[in-house]
Amino acid sequence: MTMTMDVDKILAGKYPAKAHAARVAAYIRTKTDATGILYLEGAASGLLEDCDEPVPFRQRRAFMYLTGLDDVADSYLVYNMATKQSTLFIPPVDPEEVIWSGLPLSPDDARARYDVDEVLPSTELNATLARLGAAQKDTNKNTVFAIGGRVAPHVSFLEFDDKNFDLLGEAVDECRVVKDEYEVALIRMANMVSEAAHQKVMRAVRTAAKEYELEGLFLGECYKKGAKFQAYPSIVASGRSAATLHYVHNNKEMPGGKDLLLLDAGCEWKLYASDITRTFPVSGKFTKESRAIYDIVLKMQLHCIAMLKEGVAWDDVHLLAHKIAIDGLLSLGVLKGDKNEILKARTSAAFLPHGLGHYLGMDTHDTGGHPNYSDPDPLFRYLRVRRNLPAGSVITVEPGIYFCDFIIRPYLKDPKHAQYIDEKVLNKYWDVGGVRIEDNLLITKDGSENLTDCPKDPEELEKIITGA
Ligand code: GLY
Ligand code: MN
Ligand code: MN
Repeated sequence: MTMTMDVDKILAGKYPAKAHAARVAAYIRTKTDATGILYLEGAASGLLEDCDEPVPFRQRRAFMYLTGLDDVADSYLVYNMATKQSTLFIPPVDPEEVIWSGLPLSPDDARARYDVDEVLPSTELNATLARLGAAQKDTNKNTVFAIGGRVAPHVSFLEFDDKNFDLLGEAVDECRVVKDEYEVALIRMANMVSEAAHQKVMRAVRTAAKEYELEGLFLGECYKKGAKFQAYPSIVASGRSAATLHYVHNNKEMPGGKDLLLLDAGCEWKLYASDITRTFPVSGKFTKESRAIYDIVLKMQLHCIAMLKEGVAWDDVHLLAHKIAIDGLLSLGVLKGDKNEILKARTSAAFLPHGLGHYLGMDTHDTGGHPNYSDPDPLFRYLRVRRNLPAGSVITVEPGIYFCDFIIRPYLKDPKHAQYIDEKVLNKYWDVGGVRIEDNLLITKDGSENLTDCPKDPEELEKIITGA
């Protein structure tokens, strides 16, 4: 309740667009002496190929970051680095368009709603750019910073001596890593909606006929709470489908019996994502095997979360997840041999082939993580964050253990790994499919704060599912 009130209070204010612009400008200044203006274009409106329906609108993230305009198309921003003045350009009234779509956002409404200094019709854009450029001609303040490939042909930078199309995109991507209070409130809000929707699915899982019935329930609950968009396509994977990491068909009949359901689903709130996974028994009762795997994954998650604080190397947290997975699979007899040798051989990647988590923000897999997808070390190849975590960053912690035939079979055929896997014991676990548990964590100076408050204790899950 208090949390909801705090979030409501923060979100009653404006999205801090000017603070973001100042931060981005400061980043650019650390890279070059030149200054001038930042120029950004929002996403354009358009029609689908071969028909007159609109393309679903998706705002450009960099534009949102410096304006707060999540749902207005065909807009532009100019930010003067010297005066710190921002000017937003929005579409003018087009009488033909008003017939179909109603009146567009007015400059007065835009000024009241968004954290910008001035709002002009977009018909004024080129004249404003020419004026700004001419005023600083032949000084070191005459650079226009824009994003390559994101400047419309009708836009002219003629009065600017220098154009830099590299730094602005990099600056926005890097600045987005550390979230401010407002952004954290948006992520929290998305989490609160998704948590309710996850619990709705838990309560219906025993009686659902198809996976997509549960997907519909999840989406409906998000919609009901005002979240019309999802951060990513929902993964509603029962039984062995859970071993496919991004299974999105969601069209199988619900098996009942002893299977698990892996639900990885999260809505957006004003473009900010939640990304939550829960895995639970369809029948309301874990089997011995599924519970054993669940307990290992939960231990991996809790220990990794306990390790979080400002400055921790994400590589190290990911490594801890593998060490606990190895210990757990050794105790079940799925793995055999010396745990240090197993780790050295990277055999655990057969069961945990993805990274422990990723930054979360306006994108589900948010910017600034600097992954190395060609890392020769298979343990780290798919780790989306390869940095020390700063306070204020938000990261997912999503360990999993999967029994994917396609991935594990080659390990069984390779003597380097086969020596550590007991195939007879492994055969008891194929039906577990996969277990993943995923929460969203805010990194703080001394630890972390879990922004996801959704049941994951196995006994509590059983109670929710059976209505006990
Ligand atoms: N839902 C996608 C992911 O967890 O990365
Ligand atoms: Mn994730
Ligand atoms: Mn996820």
